[in-house]
Amino acid sequence: MATTREQAVEAIRAQAERDAGRSALDFLTTEERRLEQCLLEGAGLTFDFSKHDISLDGFAALLGLAAAVGIENAIAALGRGDIVNLTEGRAAQHMALRGGGKDEVRKAQSKAELDRALDFAGELRSGTFTSSTNEAFTHILHIGIGGSDLGPRLVHDALSSPHAPVDVRFLSSVDPDAFERATSGLDPATTLVFIVSKSFSTPETSLNTRTAISWLEAGLEGGIGRHLVAATSRPDAARALGISDDRIFEVWDWVGGRYSLWSCVSLSVMAAIGREEFERLLAGARRMDEHFLQARTSANAPVVAALTAWWHRAIHGRQSWAVVPYATHLRLFPGWLKQLSMESLGKSVTIGGEPLAVPAGPVVFGGEGPDGQHAFFQLLHQGREAIPVDIIAFACGGERRHRNALLANAVAQAEALLSGRSEAAALAELAAKGMDDEQARALASHMVMPGGRSSTFILGQELDAESLGALLAFYEHQTFVLSVLLGINAFDQFGVELGKQLAEKLEREWMAGEVGQHDASTKALIRQIRHYQGG
Ligand code: F6P
Repeated sequence: MATTREQAVEAIRAQAERDAGRSALDFLTTEERRLEQCLLEGAGLTFDFSKHDISLDGFAALLGLAAAVGIENAIAALGRGDIVNLTEGRAAQHMALRGGGKDEVRKAQSKAELDRALDFAGELRSGTFTSSTNEAFTHILHIGIGGSDLGPRLVHDALSSPHAPVDVRFLSSVDPDAFERATSGLDPATTLVFIVSKSFSTPETSLNTRTAISWLEAGLEGGIGRHLVAATSRPDAARALGISDDRIFEVWDWVGGRYSLWSCVSLSVMAAIGREEFERLLAGARRMDEHFLQARTSANAPVVAALTAWWHRAIHGRQSWAVVPYATHLRLFPGWLKQLSMESLGKSVTIGGEPLAVPAGPVVFGGEGPDGQHAFFQLLHQGREAIPVDIIAFACGGERRHRNALLANAVAQAEALLSGRSEAAALAELAAKGMDDEQARALASHMVMPGGRSSTFILGQELDAESLGALLAFYEHQTFVLSVLLGINAFDQFGVELGKQLAEKLEREWMAGEVGQHDASTKALIRQIRHYQGG
């Protein structure tokens, strides 16, 4: 009889009890085959899982869970384009966007739309598509939020050069300062407004679009039609804004917003980095798709990564997960991953609507490595709660001394998290500095670092379009596998709706000078805002 999820979880708990008190350092010393089994390769990236506080028997038990939840079938279903988003009755075919997976119909559909977008981006780059004043466009104002912003913004920041023929400004927030900042120094005559909204009804994007249209109208004598382009699954709504069909690019309801960066949603990025570079990004992601669809579970990097995440969350109740890229070009990566992971996994019920037996996705935070070391790493090393860390680094690129200093820091942090510093070691250090015994004893306990803190080290040869594509696809797949392990739907986000509805209601009341039905605290807040506004 096949093992059930509950039996597999029980087996993992039993193994965790047997391993209690043992650390990864201990496993590294005693388990001969640990490195062989914990070092994985996928799409040109190396994944080192050996520093997790999971014994090889623990990994075997976790693989038992993967088998019990039918991970191979789940991955195959995703690849085929089956309906995996059950609450909304949709497939999740982000793999098809980049030519990956097995859904030939959607792959062809994606390719055709992508080619249109790449052609149009090429015309912007060469200046063949001109503005209403017959000038080449120098800037694109990319308006979108959430998945319609974070992915393209990250890829643009990572891959564009200051010499790009077209510069992109991103606008997501409705803060009036955001609009000011995004349009500062721009000339409407040479600015293309690119509206990105799958639903074409997101309030922030609608308001920013209206303001951008007024800004264009105020700055342009002729029509603004040539200045408006949209990416959406609602072409009718884009048409209603006066955007012509040849400048509307389609995304489909079988693509989740946070998984859409591979599509025409990134048209602005295509204009900045060019066709070849964008195609390399897709090729990298496709390589990761192939790895994900083909590798056996024990050698499948996204699967093993998800199993480690499940272990920290479900077995040890570790709430947080830090992601630390040692790459300036990936400084926006934690922001992108926050949406991908927390919007996908921040759930409390199973696909069947039952309360979850174990906590769902972790709180994701992070930042660029060197800056993080001088900010939140103190908590990682000495805070009471253990926080698993993903460290991302690249072996080559740029000036050698800087590269090696960066790498030394990345590797040293993983090592320090693992080995820590004992009280005896602290005392010896202080004695070597000439401190007397009494003072040293008083200080040593503050210097103790428990060690045994788990990390995954992800190493690439060089950060380029291809390795970036592979890295982002890796995290998409890890998120999906974790959702399967948890038994939740990774592709809906009902939790974001209520706040949206209440904001719309409040805005209507505000404009009408009314205060509707609200709790006492909310009413007091509204009164205080009005007081500050002099109303
Ligand atoms: O925050 C909710 C959300 O629906 C995200 O999932 C999505 O990425 C974002 O809003 C933007 O949605 P749209 O592309 O429809 O404007």
